Order: sequence, then C-alpha cells, then structure tokens
Amino acid sequence: MTTETTTTSTGSRTAAPSGTFAIGGDLPVVRLGYGTMQLPGEGVWGPPKDHDGAVRVLRRSVELGVTFFDTADSYGPVVAEQLLKDALHPYADDVVIATKAGLTRQGPGVWTPVGVPAYLRQQAELSLRNLGVETIDLFQLHRIDPSVPLEDQVGELKKLQDEGKIRHIGLSEVSVEQTKAAQQVATIATVQNLYNLAKRDAEPLLDYAEEQGIGFIPWFPLATGALSKSDGPLAAAAAEHGATPSQLALAWLLRRSPVMLPIPGTKSVEHLESNVAAAGIELTDEEFATLSAAA
Ligand SMILES: NC(=O)c1ccc[n+]([C@@H]2O[C@H](COP(=O)([O-])OP(=O)(O)OC[C@H]3O[C@@H](n4cnc5c(N)ncnc54)[C@H](OP(=O)(O)O)[C@@H]3O)[C@@H](O)[C@H]2O)c1
Repeated sequence: MTTETTTTSTGSRTAAPSGTFAIGGDLPVVRLGYGTMQLPGEGVWGPPKDHDGAVRVLRRSVELGVTFFDTADSYGPVVAEQLLKDALHPYADDVVIATKAGLTRQGPGVWTPVGVPAYLRQQAELSLRNLGVETIDLFQLHRIDPSVPLEDQVGELKKLQDEGKIRHIGLSEVSVEQTKAAQQVATIATVQNLYNLAKRDAEPLLDYAEEQGIGFIPWFPLATGALSKSDGPLAAAAAEHGATPSQLALAWLLRRSPVMLPIPGTKSVEHLESNVAAAGIELTDEEFATLSAAA
C-alpha cells in the first residue's frame, strides 16, 4: 500500500489524489465525494440536531478538495439541499451538486416512489430554488416508479434538460436492462446503486457503466458504518496497514473502477477528514485481491 498525500496549507490530506471523472464527458469532479443523507434528523426526517455542525462538515469538505456532493429533495425533505445552500452558496466554480427526485416522504424512514412527470418537474423546480442554482448539475431519478412508464419518467427529465434546467441525467437503483431502456430516451450520465466491499450485487451494472463511460455512484459505501467499525471485517487489515477500516473500504472502491464516485456520509468533521485521506491510499494488486476475497 502506498500513500500519496496532497495537503491543504494547514497540513490536512485532500481528496485530490482520488483523481477526476468527467460526468457526462464534460463536468469534472474529484472522484471521492460526499453524501448528505446523514445530515438531516433521525430517519432522514426534519432538521439536523446541530445545524452549525452540519454546515461545518460541508465547508470542511470543500476545504479538503471535495467537489462532488450528492443530495436529494427527499433528504429531510428539503433539509439537505437547504444546508448545502446555507453552507456553500455562492458555490465555488468546481462544486458539482447531484440531486434526485422520485421518492416522496410520509415520515421518518418512509420512502414512496412517485414518478408522475408533473411531480418530477415540480421537484426539479423546487430543487433549483432550494439549492439556489439556475441549472442542476446532475438530476437523478431516485427510483423508477413501477406504475408510470419508464419512458415518461426519463422523458420528463430529458425535457428539463432540453430547457436548460438540468445539465445531466442520472438513475438510481436500476438494473442494466433499465439503464439500457432509459438510454433509448436520454443520455444517462450516472447510475447510483447500493454497492460496497461487502455488498456487490450491482457488479453487472458497474461493469456496464465502466464500458459505457457512465459514472457509478455507490451508495452506502461504508455499509452505513458497518465497514468502519474497529471490530468489523476490515479491522485486522486496517491495523496491518496503518489505515482505518473506512479508509480501506473507500480505497478499495476507488481502486475497483475509474468510473467509481464514492460519496461517504458523515456528521463528523473528524470522520470526514479521515475518509478524505483515503483518496491518497493506493492498494497493491495483492492487497486489492485479498480485500476483494475477504469481505
Ligand atoms: N440513491 C439512493 O437510493 C441512496 C440511498 C442511501 C444513500 N444514498 C447516498 O449515499 C450516501 C452515503 O450513504 P450513507 O451516508 O447513508 O452511508 P455510508 O456512507 O455507507 O455510511 C455512513 C455512516 O458511517 C459512519 N461513518 C462515516 N465515516 C466514518 C468513519 N470514518 N468512522 C466511523 N464511522 C463513520 C457515519 O456516522 P458518523 O456520522 O458518526 O460519521 C454514518 O453512520 C448518502 O449520504 C446519500 O447521499 C443514496
């Protein structure tokens, strides 16, 4: 394992060594990003316990060279998008925000897909307002609503794109077949599925994304913290390498594919700094193979 460090003026390690990926071929992001779902209240519902702490985490991300932020209208709802605006607006030129629509909320931990085109359009308009932007960099269909034809859902996103309201279109929790069907309607720039060292059901989608030059955004990159634990499956390997379990999990993802854009979430500046430092960890072929086989 080698460590490539790029540091800020105060000596913190940055996200830069993770390299860049151009979303849709023309929107570069630093590959190691940040996911905002952990910031709202319990059950991703309501305001955060510590608003100023959440703002600090987001601002520190930018200081550490993170440029790619994943959010959704439904995180809070609205709370995560407004936190991004509170913390980062006016946005630095290189900040890219990916939001989503298509999941509605009826309470803490409850998520219900709605893909009616008029609703998706309404949510895009609200995200423009809540984020304080004129164009949404990446707008992802959070879930395909099984009761609405896929072409109508993706078709509405294509209309919003043609109108200049969204720049790129992404999908979330999809199969290869659904991605191919959506590609008949619009250019798909990214896909976002559950994927981490311990849960790799989305492997065929990842391989397809890599083949197509589509960005792959693995959600739950740390298995919601299960891979971060000091007594978890990566603990021994981490101790051996002088890294933390979270860092190994993220380094493994970054190594797995050049289209991989991990978005670990945390409410803690300390965890953020540690996660970002994973960008500089380069696993040898042998270490990559051992980790792949172990989890
Ligand atoms: N498309 C979808 O349907 C979908 C679904 C779920 C999530 N997402 C996206 O994916 C992002 C990532 O998922 P996630 O945030 O839920 O899960 P995650 O990144 O796998 O794990 C986050 C959890 O790990 C803990 N953690 C993070 N860094 C740590 C560290 N260095 N040491 C110890 N614990 C650590 C966090 O707790 P602390 O706060 O204490 O650090 C938090 O509980 C979300 O923020 C969201 O943007 C998308």
